[in-house]
Amino acid sequence: MAIPEKYQHLYEAALAVRQNATAVYSHFPVGAALETADGVIYSGCNVESSSYGLSICAERTALTKAISQGERNFKRILVVADTKGFCSPCGACRQLLIDYAEELEVIMTNLNGDCEVADIRDLLKFYFKFD
Ligand code: THU
Repeated sequence: MAIPEKYQHLYEAALAVRQNATAVYSHFPVGAALETADGVIYSGCNVESSSYGLSICAERTALTKAISQGERNFKRILVVADTKGFCSPCGACRQLLIDYAEELEVIMTNLNGDCEVADIRDLLKFYFKFD
C-alpha cells in the first residue's frame, strides 16, 4: 500500500536522516524515525564500522538517542531504505525495540513509497523477555 498521510511526517524525517548514514561498506543507507507517545520524533541512520560487526542500524540509533534523552514511551517507528519491497527491521533491532516498546507500531517503507504496517509482536513472535 502507499504510505498513509498520517505517517508522512515520519517518512520525511526518516528520508532526511538517511542522508547522514555512513554506509561506506554496505552502500545501503537506512533512515528511521521513532515517535514517542508525546509526539516527539527521534530519527536515526545506520552508522557503519570498518570492523563490520560494530555497525549499528538506523532503528537502534533512533532508539538509543531517544532513551538517552530520557524517553520511555514509544508509539511507532518508520523505516526507509532503497529496497524493492518495504524495508523491515533486522532481528536484533526487533528485540531491542520490543524490549522498550512492546506495543510498537512498525511502518516499513521504501523510496518508492511502498508501505507495510505491523505490530512489533507480530514481527517477533515468541520474543525473549525476563518474567
Ligand atoms: N540496516 C539498518 O540500518 N536497518 C535495517 O532495518 C536493516 C539493515 C543497516 C545495517 C547495515 O549498516 C546495512 O543496513 C546493511 O545491512
